[in-house]
This record gives sequence, structure tokens and C-alpha cells, in this order.
Amino acid sequence: MADNKVYRASTTAPVNIAVVKYWGKRDPKLNLPTNSSISVTLSQADLRTLTTASCAACFADGDSLTLNGELSDVSGARIQACFRELRARRAVLETADPSLPKLSRMALKLVSENNFPTAAGLASSAAGFAALVQAIANLYELPDSPAQLSLVARQGSGSACRSLFGGYVAWRMGDKEDGSDSMADLVAPASHWPNMRALILVVSAAKKGVSSTSGMQQTVATSGLFRQRISNIVPTNMAAMEQAIKTRDFAKFAEVTMRDSNSFHACCADTYPPIFYLNDVSKAAIRAVESINAKAGKAIAAYTFDAGPNCVVYYLDEEAPTVLGTFSSVLGSGVTGWKEGSAGIRSSVELEDGIASALRDGVSRVIMTSVGEGPLKTQQYLIGEDGQPV
Ligand code: DP6
Repeated sequence: MADNKVYRASTTAPVNIAVVKYWGKRDPKLNLPTNSSISVTLSQADLRTLTTASCAACFADGDSLTLNGELSDVSGARIQACFRELRARRAVLETADPSLPKLSRMALKLVSENNFPTAAGLASSAAGFAALVQAIANLYELPDSPAQLSLVARQGSGSACRSLFGGYVAWRMGDKEDGSDSMADLVAPASHWPNMRALILVVSAAKKGVSSTSGMQQTVATSGLFRQRISNIVPTNMAAMEQAIKTRDFAKFAEVTMRDSNSFHACCADTYPPIFYLNDVSKAAIRAVESINAKAGKAIAAYTFDAGPNCVVYYLDEEAPTVLGTFSSVLGSGVTGWKEGSAGIRSSVELEDGIASALRDGVSRVIMTSVGEGPLKTQQYLIGEDGQPV
């Protein structure tokens, strides 16, 4: 009898923000990095991608992906690599047990949605590829561990491999040519250091900057400073960061986070021609964090920036009055995103007028979040039992 069933599975996956940055590929085809990296997985209550993967013998139009309501191109090499790897793993199961439905031969229909505005310019590719890989793995009932799935997600987007885990996550660069040891690894679960918080200052960029993929290629090809970064700076920062996380040493965590962000952006400036991701608002955010730490007499806040002007500030919940208070004193209720009365907190940290006005003019919204869990299976479906988007 013909199999008319629509097979479905859904997952959510988190965003992660690196504290030791991935920047540089030693193999662009397999997406193998020039250095290891570490990130913090952010709470899915605030930032997550929800993806439903489905397949059916009657899906006649080939593989498809609808992203935030728009049909997306699936012909790219990266997404094709993910489909190929996952189908191969399913095919192994089908060969071992011929009674299993032949899902690996059916077209895939994927529907995906973010719970945060794409316009915020937040790196959504990590959550997106992690959700895509995990949703298909759920659909195919693969026995693979998060680390094994991270090998697949890495080929979609490097940083995505770290979103297969919650908490504090390392991406070990590995040294094998085929990339089979370049995967994510849990440094500590979210419960190990649950009072970690992140305040994201969303800074509107006038025009779209250089993409990470092309920016890092230009850095690898032209920056001398970058060679110093991958041979000395990152190995030192990796060891110090792992130690800081294991011992819950926030001052050390903060120093390494800020130094590593500075090192990464210095390598961007050393790229020829130079790449600038930070703008005057980003620099004002750095100065504000410095003022907070100077007043506290120790590092209680840490800034970090990816390939764009948005600032992520890490801090511990017990320091919220000072850290949040400094930013809310300046931004007040003029921006959206404050939670539970935090717009009204005032701190005694005084920022220079130029810094306060740059933040007031340039920060369009804030996102308050915390450390969170890895992908979560859900019964919420974006595709109905009839195979149509819902
Ligand atoms: C600055 O993971 O977006 O955010 O592998 O080319 O997709 P591709 O790059 P991507 O790069 C992220 C770079 C970063 C640092 C980081 O997340 O570690």
C-alpha cells in the first residue's frame, strides 16, 4: 500500500554569543576553523528559532525551506551538505531495519520562524542551522548525540555547531583533514552558572556590513595580526576562559571576553582593506562598561561584539542594579525591551555626556536575557498533518 503519511518533527534552538570568537576558516568547503572558540547559549524564552521538518512521499516539488514566511533558497552548498549528511545517517538506519519508512528518499519541507525581529541584525544563522539540523534529526529519529549533530550544523554555519548545546560551549577546532574532530563540546551546563545574564544593546546599522563569511576570509588572507591571534592569543584565551567558567570567576570571564572581542576587532582593522564592525555607538557602549567596572573597582560587566555594531553585555544577576541601572538611567523608557521594572532602575555610575548621548541616539532597543538550554523538542508544529504550513 502506498505511504501517504506526512512525517513531522519540531524543535526550537537557541542563539549563542561567543566569548572567545571564531574568526577564520582553514577549509572553507568543510567549514573548518583556524581556531577553537567558546560561547554562552542564550535563553530561548527571549531568542529562539522554531523549526518544523516534514517529509512525505507525495511532496513532489523537491526540498523547500520557508523562513519567517518567505521561501528561501536551498540550492546553496552549505544547506545541501546538511541535507546530504542527515539523509546518509537516516539511510544507514533504513538499511539496518528494512521495516522503517524510507524517509531518506522523500523530499523535505521545512518551515522556520524566529521569535525575535530579523531587523534587529542579531546573528540568527547559528540558531537557524542548529534548529534545521536538530529538526531533521528528530524527524529521522537519528540516535546521534548533540556533539555528532554539531558536525553537521558546523557545515551549515560555523557558529551553529555551538547552538546544539545549552550553557557554556566550546567548539574544538580539531586537526583532521576531513573535519571529523571539529565539533562542539560542553564546557559546563547552564545550571553550573545560572545567574549569568546578557543585556543586548541593539544598534541600528545604517547599511549592511561585510558578512562574517567573507570578512573572515579577507582577514585570513591579509592580516599579519591574525596569525598572532590564532597561534598565541586564542589558545591563551581558551584556557583562561575554560578555567574562569569552571571556577565561576566572573572578573576573569569578563576580562577574557573583552580582550578577545578587542583582539578580533583589531584583526578586522588589520585586514587590508580594513573592516570596521564597531561604530560610535558601539564605542560608547565600551566606555559605559569601563565606567561601570571602574566605579565597582572590579569587572562586573563585559562587552562583546560580533560582526556588527550590536553590543552584548554579560553580567551576573546580583550586579543588575548597577549594570542595568547604568544603561536604563541613560536609555530609560525611550527604548523597548526592558523587563520587570528595569527601565526605572537608576545607578550611581555617571557617564560622560558624549557617551550618554551616543547611546541615547544610537540604541534602538534592548533585549534582556540569560544563559539557557540547548535545542528542545516541541509539539508545536509549523506544518500541519496535511503537509501544509499552518
Ligand atoms: C563573529 O558562524 O556566521 O559571530 O561559518 O561563515 O557561517 P560562517 O560564519 P559565522 O561566523 C560567526 C563569527 C562571529 C564569532 C563567533 O560567533 O564565534
